[in-house]
Amino acid sequence: MYGLLFREVFCRMDPEKAHHLAFSWIRRVARTPVLRTFAAAVLAPRHKELRIEALGRRMHGPFGLAAGFDKNAEGIDGLAMLGFDHVEVGTVTGRAQPGNSRKRLFRLVGDRALINRMGFNNEGSAAVAARLAARRAVFRTTVGVNIGKTKAVPEGEAVADYVTSTEALAAHAHYLVVNVSSPNTPGLRNLQATEHLRPLLTAVREAADRTVTTRRVPLLVKIAPDLADEDIDAVADLAVELGLDGIIATNTTIAREGLGLTSDPALRAETGGLSGAPVSDRSLEVLRRLYARVGGQLTLVGVGGITTAEDAWRRILAGATLVQGYTAFLYEGPLWMRTVHKGLARRLEASPYATLAEAIGADHRKVTA
Ligand SMILES: Cc1cc2nc3c(=O)[nH]c(=O)nc-3n(C[C@H](O)[C@H](O)[C@H](O)COP(=O)(O)O)c2cc1C
Repeated sequence: MYGLLFREVFCRMDPEKAHHLAFSWIRRVARTPVLRTFAAAVLAPRHKELRIEALGRRMHGPFGLAAGFDKNAEGIDGLAMLGFDHVEVGTVTGRAQPGNSRKRLFRLVGDRALINRMGFNNEGSAAVAARLAARRAVFRTTVGVNIGKTKAVPEGEAVADYVTSTEALAAHAHYLVVNVSSPNTPGLRNLQATEHLRPLLTAVREAADRTVTTRRVPLLVKIAPDLADEDIDAVADLAVELGLDGIIATNTTIAREGLGLTSDPALRAETGGLSGAPVSDRSLEVLRRLYARVGGQLTLVGVGGITTAEDAWRRILAGATLVQGYTAFLYEGPLWMRTVHKGLARRLEASPYATLAEAIGADHRKVTA
């Protein structure tokens, strides 16, 4: 059914327009109580065994929506209704900005991938904070807020821009993510170098503590799959040293490996970040490396090319406490979350682990046992 809708409707539209259309339908259903209750019952049945405590929150499960889908925090309840256990909104920048000129999102259907150079189109931290403050939550879901740098802000003033966002948004975030890994804002990924990352993360931590005094807002950093292995280790060590709560691995890649099934070579040549199936192996590798380095000390979030329940399960065994997806949501449709949850529950039941928490990082213990 969704396959037909995807092929006959969405695929005939510009991908960004298709996104806005689908997202508006989701929000419309979520605004109608009867439809909302029905949709949640069908699409988001809970599996008790998948419950997990992470980042100071009790969550229904480990599977969330990655940043970039709901950039302005407009549809959190609709997305929770579809079965996401947490929703990461953003990237939000200090100031509102339009992003790059269109066309800036490309479907590589044969490769089950996307290339995007959206460039953080968003309404800015003040507007998104106001929307989050006004939200009357229908579903109890975890809301992460992902922040990034305003394009017009010079690299030398990046810290102040992140601090602006933190001051506006921290109070509304169950967790905060410092995004330094999108390829579409010039210079952003240079902030992953520890000499830049240290003052940035320190300032964001201080701003969050200054702004929210009643609780400690968990702070994570999101990294690129294109980092060299020694840089991954350096970020991991820094995160532990600064008392960060976690690392999200990974963002999209600028590499073009693993492509080839999409027939139009012009599509493959588009600039931007590649997501979906082709990034899966590297994202898993980065996660595995992080867990080997700092496992147990940080909450790791696995993202990048997760499509099946098996993909999600392998991330958990490799060290992820939480997993996220975005690209496969477009290709698989609204039953995707239900399928992944069901498959995860089945895998946990068939495994030697009594709880999901026990399964986290189990691959590493097997290797060293
Ligand atoms: C259209 C699009 C927009 C995205 N925007 C953001 C963003 O604003 N901030 C961010 O941290 N990641 C963003 N991402 C990256 C995703 O959050 C995710 O890290 C990446 O796509 C890999 O996961 P996937 O293969 O499941 O899509 C975006 C991805 C896509 C496809």
